[in-house]
Amino acid sequence: MHEVGSPGIPGRLAAGAFRLRRTKFRTTSSRGLRPQRDHTVSSESGTYIMGRNSRETHRLGVQGKLYATHTRHLLAQAGIEPGMRVLDIGCGGGDVALEVARLVGPTGSVIGVDSDADLLAVAEQRMAAEVVHNVVSQQATVPRIPLDGPVDAIVGRLILIHLPDPVAAVREMRTLVRPGGIMAFQDLNTYRAHSVPAAIPLVTQSLAWVSAALRAGGCSVAAGDELFTILRAAGLPMPALAASSPASGDPDSLVLEHITESVITLLPLIERAGIATRANVDPDTLLARLRAEVQDAGAAVYSPELVSAWARA
Ligand SMILES: C[S@@+](CC[C@H](N)C(=O)[O-])C[C@H]1O[C@@H](n2cnc3c(N)ncnc32)[C@H](O)[C@@H]1O
Repeated sequence: MHEVGSPGIPGRLAAGAFRLRRTKFRTTSSRGLRPQRDHTVSSESGTYIMGRNSRETHRLGVQGKLYATHTRHLLAQAGIEPGMRVLDIGCGGGDVALEVARLVGPTGSVIGVDSDADLLAVAEQRMAAEVVHNVVSQQATVPRIPLDGPVDAIVGRLILIHLPDPVAAVREMRTLVRPGGIMAFQDLNTYRAHSVPAAIPLVTQSLAWVSAALRAGGCSVAAGDELFTILRAAGLPMPALAASSPASGDPDSLVLEHITESVITLLPLIERAGIATRANVDPDTLLARLRAEVQDAGAAVYSPELVSAWARA
């Protein structure tokens, strides 16, 4: 079906083009959000398909809340525990780093790495607001991450599948983890999103728009399924697997908001690829119409399935 919340397509940055910034997340009450660049481009041009603007930041926030407990549960299953030093690759707005910080507790620490300085600034603000002190941010391009020593675990949500060469990246990042440490990655199976007991037309249509846009941008709608193959090809021991989906019959839940925000973020691509027009989508009323249809049908909607694949380094 679709790949709501799908992930970023990384920029093809020149080798060696990373720049290191090491900043403790700190209180920034006097500092507002930095203005964000506003563009949405396809993966073919080597950039982030979901766009880089405040609406996408909002979408990432909705997505972060929707998947928070699922991410935490899957990471705990992978063996993230108190006291660990964990690297979060492609940390974006810090949702996973925050969940990892909760799992490792005050005796552990998290290093959140992203190539996007604006998103790192958002992450810093969130850590400050939540009074989280054991997370640091670092601007770098995965997999070239300068560290001052091995970590106990590397985690990455909605990032691995979108690296230009994910197998080579996993091989390279394995050198950053202590022997026997954890490498755990998560991504979405968008094609698994659905409604019960029957398909709701506007839900199905919205998921189809998102799915078609992601394909047009070169993204997989089965990114979760692909993690297993990537970890095997990288030479890791047999990965363990688990999957989990947020779902709700409440029309006001984040499930429908997440679908709506994904359609809206992808709308420029939807139009450019000739998938639908803005008038067809009618973004300003989409959420209300989705809610009404789900309410009238007495249906429940399952979000894309989050798959976790992990192995010992
Ligand atoms: C879909 S977001 C996921 C963010 C976060 N992991 C989450 O689940 O909320 C993908 C993130 O990966 C970052 N990213 C993409 N390619 C990268 C690379 N090669 N190195 C570092 N960060 C990268 C993007 O800037 C973006 O923040």
